[in-house]
Amino acid sequence: MTKNLKVSLKNITKTFGDFYANKDVNLDIYDHEILAILGENGSGKTTLLNMLSGIYYPDGGEILIDDKPVTITNPKEALKYGIGMVHQHFKLIDVFSTIENIAIGLNGKLDLNKTSKEVVELANKYGFTIDPKKKIFKLSVSEKQTVEIMKVLYYGAEVLILDEPTAVLTPQESEKLFNVLRNMRDDGKAIIIITHKLNEVLELSDRVAIMRKGEMIEVLDTDKCNEAILTEAMVGKKVELKIDRIDCRRDEKRLDVKKLSYRNHQNVKVLHHISFDVYSGEILGVAGISGNGQMQLLECIAGLRKRQKGEVLYTNPETHEVENLCLKTPLEIRELGVHLSYVPEDRLGMGLIGNMDITDNIMLRYYNNGKSPFLNRQGSKKIAKELIDSLEISYPNENSTVKNLSGGNLQKVLVGREIASNPNLLMVAYPVRGLDINSSYIIYDLLNQQKQKGTAIIFVGEDLDVLLQLCDRIAVINDGRIVDIVDAKTTTKEQIGLLMTKDSKKGA
Ligand SMILES: Nc1ncnc2c1ncn2[C@@H]1O[C@H](COP(=O)(O)OP(=O)(O)O)[C@@H](O)[C@H]1O
Ligand SMILES: [Mg+2]
Repeated sequence: MTKNLKVSLKNITKTFGDFYANKDVNLDIYDHEILAILGENGSGKTTLLNMLSGIYYPDGGEILIDDKPVTITNPKEALKYGIGMVHQHFKLIDVFSTIENIAIGLNGKLDLNKTSKEVVELANKYGFTIDPKKKIFKLSVSEKQTVEIMKVLYYGAEVLILDEPTAVLTPQESEKLFNVLRNMRDDGKAIIIITHKLNEVLELSDRVAIMRKGEMIEVLDTDKCNEAILTEAMVGKKVELKIDRIDCRRDEKRLDVKKLSYRNHQNVKVLHHISFDVYSGEILGVAGISGNGQMQLLECIAGLRKRQKGEVLYTNPETHEVENLCLKTPLEIRELGVHLSYVPEDRLGMGLIGNMDITDNIMLRYYNNGKSPFLNRQGSKKIAKELIDSLEISYPNENSTVKNLSGGNLQKVLVGREIASNPNLLMVAYPVRGLDINSSYIIYDLLNQQKQKGTAIIFVGEDLDVLLQLCDRIAVINDGRIVDIVDAKTTTKEQIGLLMTKDSKKGA
């Protein structure tokens, strides 16, 4: 079968503020092919394809369709060029029927019966079943996804982009979707699937484009790939690091998580019987491809999500009493000294308020510490001053609002604020995301200082070299399961990489 070049992205760049979400990206898209876009969360996958589907407009570079440069300013225009995208968050109208949702964008006189018949035929051709009359609110998530896909296909998409389509599906539904996508490919469509799951890439795609930190790292033929090759391309080559690992005292068991399970609001099981413990004076690393349940785990412990099964037992260092955190509110948990700091992909999106200055952002965390009913701005000011000094935060002036800080400095405020609050159990995720090497070392030092004070630390990281050097033990999370807990001193990067990527359901 001959493949034809359909779309070329040339030197595409997209910035948000001073942040490069995509930098100089080149990518060719062929018909008769399933192309996977692989990369960790935040690597720029969605941004890139949003530019092809008319959601964003590139700051630099060129899009060629059938060898001609084009300007795509909105999704409708993208569809005119035969490009359709199914987003992570569906955009259907609940009270309308399937066919009404599909027909809503049609021009001219509507013949719903005719449209229904055509849509059903098209769906059957590829192996989908669809009920045109059924209202959207009565559909399962997987059925809604089918409607979204059929909608863009019916509008003539030849290039079909799916953004993390299996995130909302059960394994059986994913398998079914993959079969449909194979049929579409064989029919000549260009299929692009965005994913961070290696097994999906290997199972489904013909080629795989790997992104890291906004850049296109390489594009490979899938049959020449294996998990190790993909992992390295995704997370990067070994770098020379030297982080101190101070001796671990393991005085008292601070946290004991027992068979914790969690389903998300779409009723997909995200955490499966998670069990592990953490001692005071210990750094427990959590390794895993991002998006495998790390954040949900930390948020369950912090009380921000309600676990469905299991226990989270916390030993209070003052009273030595054991408390079940599952029975407490997030504020009560925080008051026990359990603090969570995570650096989201969008650093301004949560955790900090852009229009407030550094002091006020620090006060967000400390406003309820004072005895008086009035806000104690002096205390926060002192902490702000200390943070600014110890983290070498550079800022335009005393009253600069946080949104004017550069990304790295912003992040030091976010992470430093939690570390400086002297928690008993400190959970940090991706604290050095996007920081330069020197700033990263400052954060590692702060964590080590906390460890020395007897804080129990859970460190979710993305860099295996860092995890191996900084942590005492490493719990490997894969598809919402802790697949192993290893001694960081005696384990290799390859062993962890394998645990991170092997099919956890087939393994243990
Ligand atoms: N509208 C936006 N404003 C600011 N930053 C954004 C926006 N959209 C994406 N980003 C940032 O761009 C980076 C890449 O995001 P995205 O393309 O969604 O990654 P992926 O799909 O690979 O998880 C992230 O750091 C994200 O925070
Ligand atoms: Mg995305």
